Amino acid sequence: MDPGKISEKLKDMVYEYVGLLFELPAAPGLVGTNTKFLGRSAGLLPTDPIKQAVANTWIHQISAILPFAGTEEGIDSLFNTLNTLLPTQPTLALDDFSIVDMLVIAISSLYKAFSTVPLKYIRVKRYLVNLKDLRTIGKYVPEAKTIATKRNFNVVYGTGGRYRIDYIMRTPELIGQVVIVKGWAKTARVQGGGDFAFIELNDGSSVKSLQVVVDKSFPEFSRISGTGFSASCKGLLIESPGDKQPVEMQITSLTEHDFKIIGDCDQNSYPLAKKNHSLEYLREQAHMRPRSNLIGCVARIRNALAFATHQFFNSRGFLYVHTPIVTASDCEGAGEMLQVTTVMGKTLKEIPVTPEGNVDYSMDFFGRQAFLTVSGQLAVENYSCALSDVYTFGPTFRAENSHTTRHLAEFWMIEPELAWCDLEGDMECAESYLKYCLQYALDNCYDDLEFFEERIEKGLIARLRNVLEKPFARMTYTEALELVQKSGKTFSVMPKWGDDLQSEHERYVSEDVVKGPVIVYNYPKVLKSFYMKLNEDNTTVQAMDILVPKIGEVIGGSVREDRLEKLDEMIQFKNLDKESYWWYRQLRMYGTVPHAGFGLGFERLVMMVTGVENIRDVIPFPRWPGHADF
Ligand code: 4AD
Ligand code: MG
Repeated sequence: MDPGKISEKLKDMVYEYVGLLFELPAAPGLVGTNTKFLGRSAGLLPTDPIKQAVANTWIHQISAILPFAGTEEGIDSLFNTLNTLLPTQPTLALDDFSIVDMLVIAISSLYKAFSTVPLKYIRVKRYLVNLKDLRTIGKYVPEAKTIATKRNFNVVYGTGGRYRIDYIMRTPELIGQVVIVKGWAKTARVQGGGDFAFIELNDGSSVKSLQVVVDKSFPEFSRISGTGFSASCKGLLIESPGDKQPVEMQITSLTEHDFKIIGDCDQNSYPLAKKNHSLEYLREQAHMRPRSNLIGCVARIRNALAFATHQFFNSRGFLYVHTPIVTASDCEGAGEMLQVTTVMGKTLKEIPVTPEGNVDYSMDFFGRQAFLTVSGQLAVENYSCALSDVYTFGPTFRAENSHTTRHLAEFWMIEPELAWCDLEGDMECAESYLKYCLQYALDNCYDDLEFFEERIEKGLIARLRNVLEKPFARMTYTEALELVQKSGKTFSVMPKWGDDLQSEHERYVSEDVVKGPVIVYNYPKVLKSFYMKLNEDNTTVQAMDILVPKIGEVIGGSVREDRLEKLDEMIQFKNLDKESYWWYRQLRMYGTVPHAGFGLGFERLVMMVTGVENIRDVIPFPRWPGHADF
C-alpha cells in the first residue's frame, strides 16, 4: 500500500468536509505527520487535550502499520490493530467527526473495506457502520453493510437453554462453537439430491433468520418441509460461505449435534403458508400476524421506542406515574368515551332504571357512570402538582367514529407533565423526546429499519436522519393558516381564522412548505380543550401541536391554565360541569404552579419511524369501529 495515496485521499476528504485545500508537506509517505498537519489546519483535531493525545496515538499506531499493508498479512495486521484500537478508545467517531475518522475512512475506502471487512473484525465493521451515519462521508461508503450495533444484553441466552439468533449474528466469537437455537422455520427446502435441508430459522430476536443446514442422517429429516414448523437445533456455527448472512449452522454429526421438530405445521391450513400477504389479510389473522416479517419488525420497533421513552424521561428525572384507565371525567371534553358497565350485559328487564326511566347507574359496578379514559393528563397533573416532572404511558380510548388510517379506538399515549414550565420549555421537551426516539431506533433497530426502507418506504433512513439534523420549524396557528390560504391549492375546505386545521391542511404545511416536522402554536381557544392557558389576547391559548409529513399531528400539548378564575371561565365557556372537576380545580386553589405538558400518540410515532401508512398495522391488536376481534 502506498501511504502517499492515503495522504492524497485525506487531502480530498478534508477539502470536501471543511472546504479548505492544503499543500501536503514534502514527504507524502509520512501519513502520520500529514494527517496531523491536515487535521490541525482544518480544525479537525479534537480541542480537548486528552482527546487530542488519544487522536495522535491513534494516528501514529495506524500509520506505523501502513507501509506493511501491501500484503495479505499486512492488511490482516492493519485491521487487527484497528479492531483492538477502536473499542478501547473514547468513541471519537460518535462525538464529533475527527481527523482520525478521516484516516480510517481513507484507509478503508482505499481497501474497499466497507463491504469486505471480514466478520472477525466486527469492531472495525461496527465503527465503519457508525461512520456511515455521518452524512459527509456518504460518497466514500456507499456500500457499507450495516449491523445493529448497540444491543447489549446482560443475559445472552434466551429462555429454554438457547442462544438468541440476533446475538449469534452479532458475535463472531461464537464461530467454531456448537450452540443451540430454537425457533420457527421461515422457509425450508431439501437440496443436494435429498442429502441435506436448508432451514431459515427465526426466533423473533431479529428480522434476520439463521440459516441451518441439516444432514439427512437425522431421524426427523423427513418431517422438514414448508414453513411455520418449530424446531430445536444444535449445531456448529461457521462463517457463512454465502454473502447473505454472516454465520450459519451446520447440523451434521449424529453424536455432537441434534435436530428436533417440536411442532409440525400443516401447510394446507396454515394461514400464512404463502408469502407476502396483504396487510389487510394479515389484520384478519391477527393471532398469526407476528410471524410475518413486517409485524415482527413493528413489534421490535415498538419495544425499542417504549424503552427509549422511559430512558428519555428517566434521564431528565421524570417520575413514571400509572394513571387510571377507568375514569369518570372526559379530559378532552369531546364526549368520545367508551363506557364501562356491568349492568348492560343483562336482559332489558334486569337493567336498573330510575323513576324517570333512565338507566340507574347508582346500581352499576362503580356506583356511577364510568368510562375508559381518553387521556391520563388530568390525573397525571395531580402528581405533577406535588412531584414536579412526571409522565404517564398507557392505553387510551376514543369512541370517535373515525375510519381513517391515523385513528384507533384504542391507542397508547405518552403524556409528560412539566412543572414550572412554559410553552417554550414544553416544545423543547417534545422535540428532544421525538428526536431521542428516532435516534434510538437508528442506533438499536437498524436491521428492522432497513427492512422498512426496502419494503415500505424508499428513503426512510435518510428521512429520519434529516429530522434529527435540523431544529423543528415553528409557527403560530395564524401563520400556518395564512400559508394554507395563500397556497393556491384546492382543499376540500378552505379554513378561515378560527377553523380547525384539517389533516389536508396540516399535511400541506409540514409536507409541502416545511418539508419536515413543524410545531404550530397559539391556537384559537374555541378549538382547544378547557384546560389550556389563555393568552393575553383573550382569544388564543398556549397550545402546540407537532405536525409531521404524511401523518399530520403526532403530538398535542399545551401550557395549563393555572389561574383558578380563568380556568372557571373556560369551563363555563366550554359548557362543562364545574362541579365534576372539583378535584382538578383544587390543584389551582392549593399552591398552584405554572405547568405544561403534551401527549404523543405512540402508534403515530411508530408510523413515523417505520413509514407504515396505516395505523392499524403498527399495533398488535388494532381496535377501530366495528373491530375488536381476538
Ligand atoms: O391531541 P390529543 O387529543 O391531546 C390529549 O389527549 C392531551 N390530553 C395530551 C396532553 O396534553 N397531555 O391527543 C394527543 C395525541 C395526538 O397528537 C395523536 O398523536 C394521538 O394522541 N391521538 C390518536 N392516536 C391514534 N388514534 C386516535 N384516535 C388518536 N387521537 C389522538
Ligand atoms: Mg390534538
